[in-house]
Amino acid sequence: MEDKKELIRQVKALTRIGIALSGEKDINNFFKMVLEEAINFTNADGGTIYTLSEDKQALDFTIIYTKSMNLNLGMADTAQWPSVPLYDDKGNKIYKNFATYVAHTGKPSSVEDAYDQNIFNNSGTKDYDSTNNYHSKSMAAIPMKDHENELLGVIQLINAYDNEGNITHFTEEHLTMLTSLASQAAIAFTNKNLVEGLEKLLYQFIKSIAAAIDRKGEYTGGHIKRVASLSEMLADVIQKDTNIYKDIHFTSEELQEISLAGWMHDVGKITTPIYVRDKSKKLETIQDRIEIVKNRFELISALIHKDIEYSKTQGKKEELKKLNDKLMDDMEFIIKVNTGGEFMRDEYIERIKEIFSFKYTANSKEYHLITEDEKKNLCIRKGTLLPKELEKMWEHALVSHEMLSELTYPKKFKNLPLYAASHHEKLNGKGYPFNKTAEELPLQSRIIAIADLYEALTASDRPYKKGKTLTETLRIMAFMVKDGEIDKDLVELLMDSKLYLKYAEEFLKPEQIDDVDIDAIKGIYNK
Ligand SMILES: [Fe+2]
Ligand SMILES: [Fe+2]
Repeated sequence: MEDKKELIRQVKALTRIGIALSGEKDINNFFKMVLEEAINFTNADGGTIYTLSEDKQALDFTIIYTKSMNLNLGMADTAQWPSVPLYDDKGNKIYKNFATYVAHTGKPSSVEDAYDQNIFNNSGTKDYDSTNNYHSKSMAAIPMKDHENELLGVIQLINAYDNEGNITHFTEEHLTMLTSLASQAAIAFTNKNLVEGLEKLLYQFIKSIAAAIDRKGEYTGGHIKRVASLSEMLADVIQKDTNIYKDIHFTSEELQEISLAGWMHDVGKITTPIYVRDKSKKLETIQDRIEIVKNRFELISALIHKDIEYSKTQGKKEELKKLNDKLMDDMEFIIKVNTGGEFMRDEYIERIKEIFSFKYTANSKEYHLITEDEKKNLCIRKGTLLPKELEKMWEHALVSHEMLSELTYPKKFKNLPLYAASHHEKLNGKGYPFNKTAEELPLQSRIIAIADLYEALTASDRPYKKGKTLTETLRIMAFMVKDGEIDKDLVELLMDSKLYLKYAEEFLKPEQIDDVDIDAIKGIYNK
């Protein structure tokens, strides 16, 4: 009856430990819990948990606990301790130490008296005892093995006590219980390693995709990496803020989610054609067509010169000269507006149309300056992209959302697609791809949006624009705040925390870093 009660108690204890172990996220606490339970089971004075080193050649001290010596060391303390080698120089197994002996035999073992046994060489134990003024007597050690019978580590216990307080030996029952405990620990440890391994794999995979997207075009190298860094920095500043964000505290999982969202925000660019993504001039398709256009101007100019030579009247010569001068002017004009740096006023558009309809006849052949398609591109009012190309460019946020929504995440990352794919949304509902409004845009989405914007404005590797100075960048952002597009509090935090400068010192060119009059910037939206 007593035996049965004891058995039930043990089963209950093991179940409780199993549940506790699988819930413990911190690996140090996890092993501490295992060792404490092992000590409680056996009423031992102390014990050590060793884990197999990464190269599998040694046992690493992980947790050490000895009641009588008031010794309680965790992984941070034992990290510097020399490991216990499992093999000698020639690759022979070392049985010198009890833990290595059990690691090699793979069998739970116990000895009544470490000084009087012939199982293992006790010189290591003796050394330990004399240095620490301790006396090891009874010992037990159990290997921790995973489901494939691979060794993960060893639990070793020292000096079991009986109810009268005398050192006694570890019993068969102790070994059975410890074996169950070790296998529970091994399962939980393996699971933890698997989960960690999967998360590591996810991170590595995401980073390699991000690197591939960044490398796809010659201009945007490093954009994603910098957006991820800045998102992390912003989240960190929010954590530390004692003002407007004093009530915001991200968990480590939420911080990880923000970082991942930063890394994945432009994943949809994988489908954006390079000629659209990197279209730096209006006439660029696979190459910039400006050279072809210039050739046409030069050809017609040469024809005019020839006609000047053969003209019979001075009046005709003058007229042709004037035409040639105008032509050269028009060519300069086209070279200028091709860059997309200028807003195309109505008179510019008219001039392009005139150039399009110009024709010159020579040798009974008609020569033109620009084609219909070139006219269309040159008439782009802002930037270098045609409406359909802009649409293609914007599509990347939608594709990001679709791609990320397809994946199955751990529950803790369930908002990742939203955070990542809403970086082009505007608080006033005028962004893309979903025209989300302020109420639908959580802080995390706004963080990625600000990081994306600040990086894009300051980057010096974008088509048709140099990296802006800090003042220029913050001014633009201030106007966007004024227009209700981006989060005012976050922009202020970026400035007040001096993060804008910290980022600049790390990533921008010295000539971009100017003295910013923060009050003047704030004045833009506070007016
Ligand atoms: Fe984007
Ligand atoms: Fe981006």
